[in-house]
Amino acid sequence: MRLSVIGCGYLGAVHAAAMASLGHDVVGIDVDQQKVASLASGSAPFFEPRLSELLAEGLASGRLRFTSRMADAAGADVHFLAVGTPQAPGGHAADLRYVDAAIDLLLPHLRAGDVVAGKSTVPVGTAAGLAARIEGTRATLVWNPEFLREGWAVHDTLTPDRFVVGAEADAAGERAVGVLREVYTSAVAAGTPFLVTDLATAELVKGAANAFLATKISFINAMAEIAEASGADVALLADALGHDTRIGRRYLGAGIGFGGGCLPKDIRAFAARAEELGRGEAVGFLREVDTINLRRRDRAVQLVVDALGGLVFGRRIAVLGAAFKPFSDDIRDSPALDVAVRLRGLGADVVVTDPAAIDNAAAAHPQLGYARERDEALREADAVVIVTEWDEYRRDLSPEHAGALVRGRIIVDGRNCLDSAAWRAAGWQYHGMGRR
Ligand code: UGA
Repeated sequence: MRLSVIGCGYLGAVHAAAMASLGHDVVGIDVDQQKVASLASGSAPFFEPRLSELLAEGLASGRLRFTSRMADAAGADVHFLAVGTPQAPGGHAADLRYVDAAIDLLLPHLRAGDVVAGKSTVPVGTAAGLAARIEGTRATLVWNPEFLREGWAVHDTLTPDRFVVGAEADAAGERAVGVLREVYTSAVAAGTPFLVTDLATAELVKGAANAFLATKISFINAMAEIAEASGADVALLADALGHDTRIGRRYLGAGIGFGGGCLPKDIRAFAARAEELGRGEAVGFLREVDTINLRRRDRAVQLVVDALGGLVFGRRIAVLGAAFKPFSDDIRDSPALDVAVRLRGLGADVVVTDPAAIDNAAAAHPQLGYARERDEALREADAVVIVTEWDEYRRDLSPEHAGALVRGRIIVDGRNCLDSAAWRAAGWQYHGMGRR
């Protein structure tokens, strides 16, 4: 099929490359000419495992191309809207200016029968408004939210848990759902659930999924606070809870909390939309989820300050990690970098290292010290803080090796990802989050 993908950020670039790998003829469109040039030359503008291979294959096959001309969307059977919906400046609501601009530019190129499939995360009610705007073209709007995780984006796009497609309950809507089923035919044939809903439900599924995940993380981080006050161990607690299949162990990783370009801004946008709908109280708990999450960053900083005897001024601190999570170079609302910035603000001599995110971090926070090599960051450190659980730190760094490099054997494990017994046995003062 012929597809256009409008917006080539994390979501759109991966979607375009993945759809081409399924055999579709895809044009990816973005207003950012630098991003287009990078993608067109086969180089991913951000770190995402497997994306470069998919880009190379797609470009070589001739089934994938990138452009900044919206006119090139003309003739596609499906136009996927994959532009960003960041937090609005000065508020909590989603900023829909890129969605609106994309529709404005696309409108003149739509033909009767075209399907416009929204993938961006939007406040409920947005799709109905967009459907009304394209009505005159006799194209049909459906909402097809995306649940991919950064670092697993290719995997999640090609083998998702489920497809959700929201459409109007009329003949055009039914036909459009059929078109989407055809786009995803291989995964659907392999048994991936394909749920058809109305537009509002499809929009809500995405917001609710991210709200649930954020709540689960903040729940275990709230338990970490109780564990700290009572002498319990939140990691053992999470293991024990996780064996209950009704609860499950995933997203019960206590630590410095969630960040990134999605969960934080999505729970805020969700709450802001609920307020607009007059149902703010229904999701009032999301405010608590947000504050618990942010409190864990304070806690990590406090652990470092306490471990260093109450003062970090002039002390050298190795910060392992800058990305908001491993397998990503994304530093948007990264708890890891936030901890580094706060320690720097207290006068510490902070040296940050990360396998993928140093360039992004250095551009955003030039006041921090950086080391490309992990061992260079560790050298002569008075304390070590692990804030992103990359394998290089979690699995490959032995306490003996680190111990030979540092000045002080103090480690704060902001992700509860180390074997505390092994580090203690090697003479380290180990501090976890919510752990004994
Ligand atoms: C999240 C969702 O997981 C995706 O399903 C969704 O499609 C995506 O947002 C989006 O809306 O685009 P992502 O932001 O890539 O994906 O990151 P996650 O893997 O969910 O992690 C989010 C944050 O939570 C990270 O900072 C991670 O370190 C933290 N986290 C995760 C924890 O602190 N504890 C956990 O147990 C799990």
